[in-house]
Amino acid sequence: MAIAEFLLLLTISAAVFPLHVQPGDTITPSKAIMDGQTLISSKGTFEMGFFNPHDSKNQYLGIWYRNIPVQTVVWVANRDSPLNSSTGVLNLTSNGNLVLLNDSGYVLWSTGTSNVTNPTVQLLDSGNLILTGGTSKSLLWQSFDHPCDTLLPGMKLGWDSSTNFNRYLTSWRSASDPSPGEYAYKFNIHGVPEVFLWEKSARIYRSGPWNGQGYSGRPEMIKNNMFRFHFISNQDEHYYTYEVLDSSIISRLVLSDGKAQRFLWSKVKNDWNSYWYVPKDPCDKYAYCGANGVCNTSYSLFCQCLKGFDPKSTNDWNQRVYLGGCVRKTRLDFQSDRFSELVNVKLPDALNATADSNRSLDECREWCLKNFSCVAFAFSGGSGCLTWTGDLVDIKVFAEGGENLFVRLAASDLDTTKGDSSKKQRAIVIIIPLILGFLVFVFLGLFMLKKKRKQGIIGDSCSKESSGKELELPLFDMSVMESATDNFYSNNKLGEGGFGPVYKGQLRDGQEIAVKRLSKDSVQGLDEFKNEVMLIAKLQHRNLVRLLGCCIQREERMLIYEYMPNKSLDTFIFDTTKAALLSWQKRLDIIIGIARGLLYLHQDSRLKIIHRDLKASNILLDKDMNPKISDFGTARIFKGDQNQENTRRVVGTYGYMSPEYAMDGIFSVKSDVFSFGVIILEILSGKKNRMLKQVEPHVNLLGYAWRLWEEDRCLELLDKAVKCSYPISKVLRCIQIGLLCVQEGSEDRPTMTEVVLMLSNEGVALTQPKRPGFCIGRTPIERDCSSTEQHSSTVNEITDTLLEGR
Ligand SMILES: *[C@@H]1O[C@H](CO)[C@@H](O)[C@H](O)[C@H]1NC(C)=O
Ligand SMILES: *[C@@H]1O[C@H](CO)[C@@H](O)[C@H](O)[C@H]1NC(C)=O
Ligand SMILES: *[C@@H]1O[C@H](CO)[C@@H](O)[C@H](O)[C@H]1NC(C)=O
Ligand SMILES: *[C@@H]1O[C@H](CO)[C@@H](O)[C@H](O)[C@H]1NC(C)=O
Ligand SMILES: *[C@@H]1O[C@H](CO)[C@@H](O)[C@H](O)[C@H]1NC(C)=O
Ligand SMILES: *[C@@H]1O[C@H](CO)[C@@H](O)[C@H](O)[C@H]1NC(C)=O
Ligand SMILES: *[C@@H]1O[C@H](CO)[C@@H](O)[C@H](O)[C@H]1NC(C)=O
Ligand SMILES: *[C@@H]1O[C@H](CO)[C@@H](O)[C@H](O)[C@H]1NC(C)=O
Repeated sequence: MAIAEFLLLLTISAAVFPLHVQPGDTITPSKAIMDGQTLISSKGTFEMGFFNPHDSKNQYLGIWYRNIPVQTVVWVANRDSPLNSSTGVLNLTSNGNLVLLNDSGYVLWSTGTSNVTNPTVQLLDSGNLILTGGTSKSLLWQSFDHPCDTLLPGMKLGWDSSTNFNRYLTSWRSASDPSPGEYAYKFNIHGVPEVFLWEKSARIYRSGPWNGQGYSGRPEMIKNNMFRFHFISNQDEHYYTYEVLDSSIISRLVLSDGKAQRFLWSKVKNDWNSYWYVPKDPCDKYAYCGANGVCNTSYSLFCQCLKGFDPKSTNDWNQRVYLGGCVRKTRLDFQSDRFSELVNVKLPDALNATADSNRSLDECREWCLKNFSCVAFAFSGGSGCLTWTGDLVDIKVFAEGGENLFVRLAASDLDTTKGDSSKKQRAIVIIIPLILGFLVFVFLGLFMLKKKRKQGIIGDSCSKESSGKELELPLFDMSVMESATDNFYSNNKLGEGGFGPVYKGQLRDGQEIAVKRLSKDSVQGLDEFKNEVMLIAKLQHRNLVRLLGCCIQREERMLIYEYMPNKSLDTFIFDTTKAALLSWQKRLDIIIGIARGLLYLHQDSRLKIIHRDLKASNILLDKDMNPKISDFGTARIFKGDQNQENTRRVVGTYGYMSPEYAMDGIFSVKSDVFSFGVIILEILSGKKNRMLKQVEPHVNLLGYAWRLWEEDRCLELLDKAVKCSYPISKVLRCIQIGLLCVQEGSEDRPTMTEVVLMLSNEGVALTQPKRPGFCIGRTPIERDCSSTEQHSSTVNEITDTLLEGR
């Protein structure tokens, strides 16, 4: 009887508590696991069940190594919602959702899957918990896609592009709390992919870009024979993963205590052995030496500036605060720049870098040299040609391994004297006779020239050509000009000036020059040529381009200027890439420079000169971006008391001409002020006065600026390329000054003296501007202003029709 009862009880209990049977490695809808039960992978490597972390009463569902005596949890399901006062149950619903419930039936965690026929959950020997279903047993969910703090072999760290899902590690809050802590180890796909270690929102370590075998910042990865690393970056996926070559080795990568650390299980120690970790030394700390700094663990102070750079603040640097980083000694001129090679480094932060696997090393160098914004390049096995813009951040040097980085430097910062002594000696052997020869040549040349001058063989001189006055302008020989410009080779052509093409050249002594050559058949050009020689030879100011000499021989008329490596202002402000290099301060400096140059023309020189063709393309920039007014072909000298002049031949450039000049041919200092106002607004907005159609269909820049002014939205005018901080009040003030200069009535416009005063002294109160000239009032012009045709050169035709039309 008792036996029968006992047997009955047994069958009943088996029917009521079918869950108490050890479930092996799988869960099906009819088999759940409860507290005290575990799932064990087929070979017994991993075990899943409920556990209490060290010193904690909370319970979690997790996966741990089964054969390792030190409890090592590699995955936790309910990190954020512990089971505190009760026991839990893990149940697979018949439609395929794996849910963790507490005693009151409250769902603490679930896989969120549904609509799965024949669902099965299985714990694999890799430590991966998978949920499969459907007729084809397809994979619907896996714990490897939801990493906690541990990356096991075969797990992917990174992005699945189709779902835009990023798998990354997050540390435990503490040893007793597996909820996500402050550290994250994340794959970054912006720029050139690499892995970052984050502490809250700050990067604290960076792996460096992948070089085909390992991370650029981890040369030791390449030499190991324990692991095989994979770095996949294609359209569908971007991730990092690894395999252990010897399957008897147990290894895991874990993020804890602010470190990414790889452990191997040591049977000898019967404990985990740290195999590798980062950050290890100060040079691993992200950007420890600041922008353009190089961190060197072999160097006692760690930080040095890149070659060609100096500490931004020597004071901070001396106090070993390196955060401020380094700044370039010499500005790049984008013409004669060279590359300095830095060997065995962790390549700089590649967030803003670009990669092109199609370019060879040489093509990479070429490409970087040509691209204005490229400051460094590297050629890496994994990504091919890498190019950087902006600051170079977080460079570490290694004793061996790492990559080579080529940093762009101004030629003067690259000391070319280095080299082995035999080379030096050879160079000396060649150079000394060259120098001697050159000196002899120069002396002979000078001697001949003097003789010739005395004998008057060079009949035409600069001075004679220019209205008879002695101007003492150096005279250059045609042959010198020919050799300096490679016979006026078309590749050396810089552009088209007022009366002919302009070439770049280089004199024998290395000085770079710009040669303006009068077109042979230009009659009007000859007048302008004479005008320019006569005028500019008398002028000298740091904001006017300097005439070095002229060349008049046979039919040829040429003017020789100092060469301006940064070309003209319009190539900067209207170019989206280059405009980004112009900070607010730089723009203001340029405006002030032009104002000073113009003030000099108007009143501070011995003469009163009206330029008449001021425009962005006539403002040249030297290597330090100082503006220099050029092109005096159409300038006019006013006699002492003369204030305005009337001409039937209106010259100048549309879009910069004041209304009274364009319409009535009246020019005065105030017409230059108008052009200057247009330039101010162009510099601030980065938009051409006449090319605003994309932004505002019916007005030009002046009209647009005026509308913003009236609507009190002036700040919107400022070029979006001005990124760094700028003082709003100063920007507004500058816009107001620009608007004052372009007022319709010439009597309302300030003089250049007033403009310079207003620009340089914030105490000077500004008046309210009146409506600007053009586009708002007078009809014949209004029609033209919305046109997008570009008139870049002198436009007599337009003005002729205008004059006829009246
Ligand atoms: C149990 O956890 C829940 C939610 O996390 C919390 O609201 C509750 O206060 C906890 N109870 C105890 C006894 O810790
Ligand atoms: C577990 O799932 C099965 C099948 O969906 C269901 O019958 C059972 O009630 C569930 N158990 C719990 C505790 O929710
Ligand atoms: C189940 O979890 C919910 C939410 O955390 C909590 O409010 C409830 O008290 C828990 N029930 C038990 C019996 O612990
Ligand atoms: C469930 O799956 C079936 C077949 O795959 C599909 O027809 C049905 O729309 C799905 N239902 C939901 C709610 O997703
Ligand atoms: C790193 O420092 C060591 C010791 O000062 C020096 O010999 C080495 O040239 C440095 N490396 C670089 C790339 O500056
Ligand atoms: C990348 O560019 C952004 C925007 O210009 C800048 O804020 C950031 O500092 C740059 N990062 C690096 C590492 O150069
Ligand atoms: C590289 O070259 C191949 C073949 O010429 C071309 O299909 C591919 O688009 C190129 N890739 C890039 C990034 O330019
Ligand atoms: C120069 O490089 C930048 C950044 O890599 C790129 O956006 C730009 O298009 C390049 N400019 C030219 C002219 O190739």
